[in-house]
Formats: sequence, structure tokens, C-alpha cells
Amino acid sequence: MNTQAWTIHNPSGSRRVVVTKELPGQRWLEILIAADCRVEVSPSTDILGTDEIAAAIGTRCEGAIGQLTEAWKEALFSALAVAGGRAYSNYAVGFNNIDLDAATRHGIPVGNTPGVLTETTAEMAVALTFAAARRVVEADRFLRQGRYKGWLPTLFIGEMLQGKTIGIIGAGRIGYAYARMMVEGHKMNVIYYDIHPNPVLEDFVAAYGRFLESRGETPVACRRARDVAEVLQTADAVSLHVVLDESTHHLINADSLALMKPQAILVNASRGPVIDEAALVDHCRKNPDFRVGLDVFENEPQLAPGLEELPNAVVVPHIASASTWSRQGMAILAASNVAAMLMGYPAWNRPDISAFLGDAPPKAAPSILNAEALGVPLYTNGGAE
Ligand code: DGY
Repeated sequence: MNTQAWTIHNPSGSRRVVVTKELPGQRWLEILIAADCRVEVSPSTDILGTDEIAAAIGTRCEGAIGQLTEAWKEALFSALAVAGGRAYSNYAVGFNNIDLDAATRHGIPVGNTPGVLTETTAEMAVALTFAAARRVVEADRFLRQGRYKGWLPTLFIGEMLQGKTIGIIGAGRIGYAYARMMVEGHKMNVIYYDIHPNPVLEDFVAAYGRFLESRGETPVACRRARDVAEVLQTADAVSLHVVLDESTHHLINADSLALMKPQAILVNASRGPVIDEAALVDHCRKNPDFRVGLDVFENEPQLAPGLEELPNAVVVPHIASASTWSRQGMAILAASNVAAMLMGYPAWNRPDISAFLGDAPPKAAPSILNAEALGVPLYTNGGAE
């Protein structure tokens, strides 16, 4: 149990909002204070347990901002509702830590933070792809250990990706952004699988292919695979961009890994349990030329036994969205979700949330996942619709 005192901002605010971690920037705090909130922030860097958060909610609490590391389920939504809570926002776009049905049953709107971490997360997936393909971390370690005795024709040979095929599993916002980076930057062909076709991605790659051709260069192509297996079999590098649910849990397992090329690269910046991590360790051990770049893990913060020792794995601690712009933007969106619900504003219903980052944000909540289920009115230019 963490005993550090929570930091209190605007103590005279009439609405009490608890925030379970310190958030970057100041704007998010200004938004809550402008909505007459007393904001109580946990200074702890430990992951708070359900009991600790319930204790912080106490007997009176109008709103909360929580983290993807916390289980916002029946116990917490019921505690929040009993305390008079009317709004919750995750400080994340992903919401597999939330029981949305429980929140809806308790009448609590739940927000998330889409649209501000797309490019940042895709950039990290690109960084992991190349760090794995070109063995950057292995080579860095080798050098720091004083083992570099001079240039050699065989030292740390990896894979070049230019002109090869990138596989995308999950072609939503982040998958699309990643695909564009790999196509525009590295002239890669795309094979993707998503339950929905992505015509914007297909049109973009086709247009870019025509542009390359018009300059006498080899064109690029894009197609939707018939299933995940076809992506795994075909691609030279595969990046996972799916949400975590029952259908994607252990989507990558021993059988699916066996379909991949022995020298392929696998990147995961989505959610850890999409990969069966024990099977991945086994596969990496048996296939030393197969390489992985991981931002997320099945049982964070733990790594599966053996993963830490693998030379062919690049691992970073769930930091794909960690750019200043994205993390401050996430804080703004989370605060705007809670403030707007407490002020009785409608929910924004458009994918572009950039207006919330400007000087004259709309009087609306940027992203409420259960707006429809709760009958929260939707935004129009003149107010609710
Ligand atoms: C999210 O937002 O879901 C990421 O995993 C953390 O930024």
C-alpha cells in the first residue's frame, strides 16, 4: 500500500477528481480547474491496486482519470458511482483494462485518448523494426563491452528492408500510419490483414506506386490478405496493430510463428497478450536469424523466462506513445473527457480530435466509448444533437 500523500490542486473546487498518476504538461490541469474541479493526484510511480484506488475515491468523487495498468472493472465503477462519480477517462487509447459494461451499468461515461498517439506509436514500431533488422541493440552492447576489435565483413549482418514486403496485422489508425512510413520511407510492398478492408491504405500505396513508376523507379503494391496466416507466410517483417480481445489473445503462437520466414522480423507495439510469449522465446531460440522488437509484454512488467537473454530480441518498456506531444495530448484529452462530462457537454463524434489541442476547444468530450449506450448527446457545431 502506498502511503505518499496525494497532491491537491485547486482545493476549493466543487467537483472532486482523482488522478491515479502524475500526467505530463499543465494544460490538462487547467482544463479540470476551469471546470471547477479539485484535482487529487497520486505521486506514486507504483501501480495502484483496486483497494488503493477505491480508498482514494472515498465517499465523494465526481470523476477519475486512471491508467491502463489498473483494473477499472465492477469494483471501481461501483465505488465511483456510489461516491457520486459521473465520469472516468483512461489515460490511453487502448481500454482492455476496462469493463465497459460495468461502467455503463453504473451510468459512468468512459473516455479514452485516440488520435494523439498514432504517429508516435507508429514511429516506435518503425524504430523497433529497424533495431531488430539491423541488430542495433546487440551491436551497441558488443561495442560497450569493449569487444570491437576492428571492421569485419561479417560483423552483425542483419536484414535490409528496402523494397521487401511489410506485413500489417490490424490496419486501423496506427497500422495505417506505420504502413505509410514503411512504404514512403523504405519503398516496401504491403500485405495486410484486418477484418475490414482499408481502401485508404490501398489507394495511398497504389498512388505512391504510380508516382514511383512515373520517375522510373520500381513501384510498390498493397493487398489485403485472405487471413493472418497469409501475412505471416508472405511478409519479411510483420507489425501487430490489433486491439486485445478474445479473438486476438495469443493470435501469435507456436503454430503461427512456424509460418513465418526464418529470418523474418516481428514487431509488437499493441498489447502483450496478442503474443504467446513463451512460444516466442522458444521460436527465437530455435531460429537465431528470426528477430523481434517488443514494446509490450504478456505479463507486464514481467518478461517471459528467457526473453531477457535473447540476443535476437529488442525490448523496450511500453513506451511507444512516449513523445512529449503525445503524452501531453493524451493528458489533455483525458481531462477534457472528464471535464466535459461533469459540465454536461455532449460527446464529440468525429475521428479528428485536433480541435481539442488548440486554443478554442469544442465544448464536448473528445472520446466517450459508451456514449451511445448511455444516451450521451452527440456534438453538433451548435451544441448537442
Ligand atoms: C495506449 O494508449 O493504449 C498505449 O498502449 C499507451 O500509450
